[in-house]
Amino acid sequence: MSAKPRKPRPDAPAAPAPAGAGTGAANPLWGGRFAAAPAEVMQRINASIGFDRALYAQDIAGSKAHARMLARQGIIGRADAEAIVAGLDRIQHEIEGGTFQFKTELEDIHMNVEARLAELIGEPAGRLHTARSRNDQVATDLRLWVREALDALASALRDLQHRLIDKAARHAATVMPGYTHLQPAQPVTFGHHLLAYVEMFGRDRGRLEDARRRLNECPLGAAALAGTSFAIDRDETARELGFERPAANSMDAVADRDFVLEFLAAAAIAAVHLSRLGEEIVLWASPAYGFVRLSDAFATGSSIMPQKRNPDAAELVRAKAGRIVGALQALLVVLKGLPLAYAKDLQEDKEPAFDAAASLALAIAAMTGMVADMEADEAAMAAAAERGYITATDLADWLVRVLGLPFRRAHHATGRLVKLAAEKGCGLESLALAEMQAVEPGITAEVYSVLAVARSVESRTSFGGTAPANVRAAAAKARERFA
Ligand code: ARG
Repeated sequence: MSAKPRKPRPDAPAAPAPAGAGTGAANPLWGGRFAAAPAEVMQRINASIGFDRALYAQDIAGSKAHARMLARQGIIGRADAEAIVAGLDRIQHEIEGGTFQFKTELEDIHMNVEARLAELIGEPAGRLHTARSRNDQVATDLRLWVREALDALASALRDLQHRLIDKAARHAATVMPGYTHLQPAQPVTFGHHLLAYVEMFGRDRGRLEDARRRLNECPLGAAALAGTSFAIDRDETARELGFERPAANSMDAVADRDFVLEFLAAAAIAAVHLSRLGEEIVLWASPAYGFVRLSDAFATGSSIMPQKRNPDAAELVRAKAGRIVGALQALLVVLKGLPLAYAKDLQEDKEPAFDAAASLALAIAAMTGMVADMEADEAAMAAAAERGYITATDLADWLVRVLGLPFRRAHHATGRLVKLAAEKGCGLESLALAEMQAVEPGITAEVYSVLAVARSVESRTSFGGTAPANVRAAAAKARERFA
C-alpha cells in the first residue's frame, strides 16, 4: 500500500515529524559519542523542559551547594567555583526576570542551566558536573521542591482548620440534625460537625509532616548510580541544602521516588476530605436543606435561571479529588516493576506531582474562603432537627435510665411510639401520655423533657460528644492542638 501524503486539515493536531535521523548538530553536552541530532519526535518525547523549568530554583541551589563543596574539597579551583556561583545567580535573575531562553533541544532544566552557564562563564562551567549526574541532580531538585510543597500545604491546611474552629466556636450550640445513611439520626451542633473536619485536616497535616521527615535525605553525590571516585563531602551538601543527612545508598538515592508517592498519598487523602466537605456544602446550600448561605464571593449565578446561586467552588473542590487521586495512581504505575537504578520513566514523576500540589493548594484556598464566608441559617437547621423523630434514642435511653428497662426492650417500645406518631402525622412530643403508657405503662410526664432537641444535645457530655459545653471546650483545645 503506497502512503499518499495527505494535506493536513488546518484544525488537525500537529502531525508527528517523520521518525528518521535528525538533522543538525549533536547535543553539545554529549556530542562526543553522537554525529547527528535526534529526530524531532525523539526530542519531543524526551524533553521535560516544558514542565521541569519549575525546578529552576532548586536546581540552582543544588548546583551552588555542589560547586562550593567541590572547591572546599579541592576538586575544583576556588576561582572556578566563584565564577560558577556568580553565573548561577545571574541565571536565576534571568529566569525570574523572564529573559532566559528555554530550549527544547537542551531537554531539561539541568542542561538548560548548564548550557547557559557555559555561555556566561566559559570553561569553568564544564567543571560543575564533576562527581555528579543528572540522576542525583534531579532527585535532589525534586526532593527540595516536594519539601516546599509539603510545608506550604501543611500551612494552608492550618489556616483552613482555624477558620473552621472560629466557625465551630460561634456555633457550639447551634442545633442541626446529625445524619447516618443521610437519614436524620440524632441532633448535633453545627460546631461539632465542623470540628470533625478539623480532626481530618489535622491528620492530613500529620501525614505531610511524616512524609517530610522521610523525604529529608540528600541524594546529591550518588552520581549516576554507583557513587563517585572523587573525595566529595556528602554531609556538607546535605547540610547546606537543609537535609537531615545524605541518602545512604547511591542506587536507592537515584531510583527512589517514595517521597513523591508519600506526598501524593497524603494529598489524595486530604483531597478526599475536602471533597466530603465540598459535598456537604453543596447539600447544605441547596434549597432542600437551606442550612448555609454562601457569600456572593463564593457563589455563581446561572446564565438562564435568574434565581440560581450555585455552589461551583464546592463542586470543583469535590471534583479536584479525581485528578489528585489520579496523580497517585499514575506514579504508582510508573514505578511498578521499574528495575534499579535510574530509568527515563522517572521523568514522568513531575507532572503528577506539580498538578496535584497546585490542585490541592487551590482546593484548600477555595474551601478556606468558602468556610470563612458562609452563613449558617440557624432557624432552618433547628426546623430540620424537629423532623424525623430525631430524639427517639433519647426516649429509649430515658426508658433504660429511669424505668430500668433493658435497652433492647426500650428500643422496641420506642419503635412502636415512633410508628404511632408517624401514623398520626405528629412528633413524639405531641403524643398524649396515655398513648405512651399504652405502649409502656411505666412512662411518666417527665419523659417529655428529653424529647426536646436542645436537651438532647446538652445531654451528650461524654468525651468527644456534641454537648455545647464540650464543643466550646473542644474548639478552645483545637486552637492549641493545631496551633
Ligand atoms: N529530565 C530527567 C528527569 O527528569 C533528568 C535526569 C536525566 N537523566 C538521564 N540519565 N537521562 O528524570
